[in-house]
Amino acid sequence: MGGWTEGYVGGIDYIRAIYRDWSPALLCFALTLRGWRPLEALRQGRFTMAEPGCGHGLTSALLAGAHPAARFEAMDFSPSHIAGVRRLADDAGLGNAEFLEESFADYARRDGPMLDAVALHGVWSWVSAENRAILLEVLRRRLAPGGVVFVSYNALPGTLAHMPLRRLLVERCAEGNGPLPERITQAVDFAARMAAQGGGWFAGTDGVAERIEQLRRKSPNYIAHEYLNGDWTAFYHADVVRELAAAKLDFAAAAVPMEQLDDLTLSPAQQTLAAEARDPAQAETLRDMMTNRSFRRDLFVKGGERLGPAERRALLGESRFVLLAAADDLPEIASTPVGRLPFPRALYHPLAEALAAGPQSLDALLARPALAAQGEDAVLRALVLLTSLSLAAPAMPDDGFAERRSSSDRFNAAVLERHRFGDTPGQLASPLLGAGVPVSRIEALFLLADRLGEEPVAFVWRHLSADGIVLGRDGERCEGDDANRAELARRHAAFVQRRRPFLEGLGVA
Ligand SMILES: C[S@@+](CC[C@H](N)C(=O)[O-])C[C@H]1O[C@@H](n2cnc3c(N)ncnc32)[C@H](O)[C@@H]1O
Repeated sequence: MGGWTEGYVGGIDYIRAIYRDWSPALLCFALTLRGWRPLEALRQGRFTMAEPGCGHGLTSALLAGAHPAARFEAMDFSPSHIAGVRRLADDAGLGNAEFLEESFADYARRDGPMLDAVALHGVWSWVSAENRAILLEVLRRRLAPGGVVFVSYNALPGTLAHMPLRRLLVERCAEGNGPLPERITQAVDFAARMAAQGGGWFAGTDGVAERIEQLRRKSPNYIAHEYLNGDWTAFYHADVVRELAAAKLDFAAAAVPMEQLDDLTLSPAQQTLAAEARDPAQAETLRDMMTNRSFRRDLFVKGGERLGPAERRALLGESRFVLLAAADDLPEIASTPVGRLPFPRALYHPLAEALAAGPQSLDALLARPALAAQGEDAVLRALVLLTSLSLAAPAMPDDGFAERRSSSDRFNAAVLERHRFGDTPGQLASPLLGAGVPVSRIEALFLLADRLGEEPVAFVWRHLSADGIVLGRDGERCEGDDANRAELARRHAAFVQRRRPFLEGLGVA
């Protein structure tokens, strides 16, 4: 590839992922929980947001569809990333989003409105110090006072354990001149063979074999963008805090709400140790050491305003939440990144029942005797956990719902059309959440058949069979058209009974 990639991996696109982490209602919840006042523009859906290094730009496109009163600037220097999202934006009629084929340096020279929020996902650890400095200049110049920055990065000390693996992949991929995806697959296989021999670093480091097994299940596109960039820097949280201070930014909160709960990951004695640090950046870094964190998603604010306890309580009280699972599908024990968490029935059952009826504010939930009996702290904590585990989500305010609905609908129509041919965003825009909702290809095709007035089973089977897809049932392949159609009819009945009403509730169907 030409020199324009500046050491970033070229010749292979990033994965087509959509992330929920910086959807506005979630940003507002994470900030409020930690006692920061979210910008009113963000709360009301009338913000300006930028995503430098947007990859395929699908998260920004979905948010633009879900927030027609907001404005989006998404940019990436890779033309193959930008071409596809521009076509999606045209088809979806996104008049509120620009998808720019620009480098960070080009973007820094651009003038535009002040930004209320900036998302830097998959960028900070994967670009050079010079490019981080350029991004800091963008934030210094264009982020509005009170604005928020989402930044994710590989964190120390947890990433230390991956460093030799990254080196191994870089060295192996540099050999040979076959297509890069092939070289990546071969390099991961080679790493697995080394791990199988044991000894040395492979024996002395926990979790290496598991990490390599995980990589075998990832696409070469993900592995290339995670490991093969010329620049690859893991950071102590305190160093990121110091770097971002140059753009007048302060660390506000962990973006994933449950990561704000110390007692989930630290023993009481460890919490006491963290509390001995007077500098909050040091305290957070000590926490990372005690939990061996390898990845962080942080929120920073520029001149953020602190909320007093009563105002924080009032803002949390009016925050509304929606359940993202059927009430009877909530697990009794959830497997989480921080271990297994019990979901006691006396708390989660009435909570799920209340939320299943539609969005509920924390205050409305606490007005219910069964939840009031559990106490406010327990109910709020349950919402924090459910929200962090994607089992629930904060909703946008009612105001502006009708506009969000028609714009989301146009976006969803364009996405559903793409499901005819497979490789497409796996989420639809919900005007209620102002965020995405995952759907499978078969669900999307059922929804498309509904829109087109087509007989769903024949319609879906026509598209799946054209791609050579064969369904399975109880671990067995469905052989022949009839068996596949019968399986699709069974899945359609289940879809109509459970999933479609749920998607309708979110304004997606
Ligand atoms: C790991 S991807 C993350 C994409 C997106 N933010 C997401 O989370 O899905 C990082 C992206 O940054 C882009 N990038 C890297 N260096 C860049 C630069 N100097 N200027 C513009 N884009 C850059 C890459 O092309 C790539 O698409």
